[in-house]
Amino acid sequence: MLNWDDPLATSTTQETAPPPASATAYEESIAKASVEQTQQVTETIPAYGQSSSPATDSAAPVTKQKAAPAQKPAPKAAVDPQVNDVEPVNADDKRVINGMTDINQLAPFKYPWAWEYFLNANKNHWTPLDINMAQDVHDYHHKLTIEERHVYENVLSYLTTSDILAMRNIGLAVMEKMSAPELQIYQARQVYEESLHTWTYQHCIETIGLDQGEIYNRYRVVPEINGKIQIANRRLNSVMRSDIDLRDRDELENFVMSYMFFAGIFEGCWFYNGFSPIFALQRRGLMKGTAEQLQYIMRDEVLHASFGIRVAKQIILEENVTLDPAKISEMWQEAEAAEEHYARYLLPDPILGYSADDHINQFRFIANRRAKSLNLDKPFPGIEEAALPWLDEQANMRKEKNFFETRVTEYQTGGALKWD
Ligand SMILES: [Fe+2]
Ligand SMILES: [Fe+2]
Repeated sequence: MLNWDDPLATSTTQETAPPPASATAYEESIAKASVEQTQQVTETIPAYGQSSSPATDSAAPVTKQKAAPAQKPAPKAAVDPQVNDVEPVNADDKRVINGMTDINQLAPFKYPWAWEYFLNANKNHWTPLDINMAQDVHDYHHKLTIEERHVYENVLSYLTTSDILAMRNIGLAVMEKMSAPELQIYQARQVYEESLHTWTYQHCIETIGLDQGEIYNRYRVVPEINGKIQIANRRLNSVMRSDIDLRDRDELENFVMSYMFFAGIFEGCWFYNGFSPIFALQRRGLMKGTAEQLQYIMRDEVLHASFGIRVAKQIILEENVTLDPAKISEMWQEAEAAEEHYARYLLPDPILGYSADDHINQFRFIANRRAKSLNLDKPFPGIEEAALPWLDEQANMRKEKNFFETRVTEYQTGGALKWD
């Protein structure tokens, strides 16, 4: 049994019976226990200033009994006239940001789709410990070429840093600015998922036996990885300030641009595309445990990107935001240049079934798709076809199940997921 006061300690206490199934029975058992405890205390603890019975005093060993906690007086009914006078929350009054309705009241929903995202997210439960990594250890040390190890290590190095950044963005910069609880609840789940992703990469790094200090430090010393991180850090730092006021039009535009960047590019392109080198190994029967871990993460990231894009569009609609086309174009071009530097570093020469050109062209293809979702012009109009047509199949794992004989589809809970 877990010791909740000291969870890392080995418990020496015995298991207690589980609480009764019904709330009523549970309340009755609590009441009964309380009466029994009171009787026991009355029998064994003398009143202050009195001695115990002579027999107990003189001969029998003293058994210490824990004193019952003092009974608190029943709380008075809430009579705060200000609370009782407030109007009920009207869903139409809710807004994504700058709203004035009660943030503690979930329903009525104005954004029922946000609640659906939360329910869908809860159908993708796993931990990295659920996936067998034994074959990956063998593959890494005995089957991968030096070039393939370089790809594997640098993908992990980039992802570890990126997921911490993603967690900080949504948890520290975005959530606090939302003024409808149904949005915050999905984002709270998203914060957890980003930390789960970080655990997953750490689990892969530990299991394979990579040098953690070197892998985690790589984004700081490799300019091609650092370039992508710096772009994201700059966006994040511009919106993670205590003095930000989203009623200011410049601040509002900057926040929307940042949210669009994180949902549409950072998660929607860089993460989505970032797993593909490992999936290319998986397609050749290599590093299948790691790839399965990334498939779970990819499910989450598809939802994160889709949700973020929807929220950004809703803000643009509600707040009547006009974005500067030059800034949007600059955002895509900067992201493409950083992705190209990264891809050339990752794959100076192609590995079997995957090249830097594949990676960059797939980025452009996915970027066009995200731009369409955001109601923006295609940033790369010459790119009409996926360079990696199998990547979408990888995202929708049920189609891959028989081929790779993984258990990932069965692990989904609560019915089918829908993918945008
Ligand atoms: Fe993530
Ligand atoms: Fe994410």
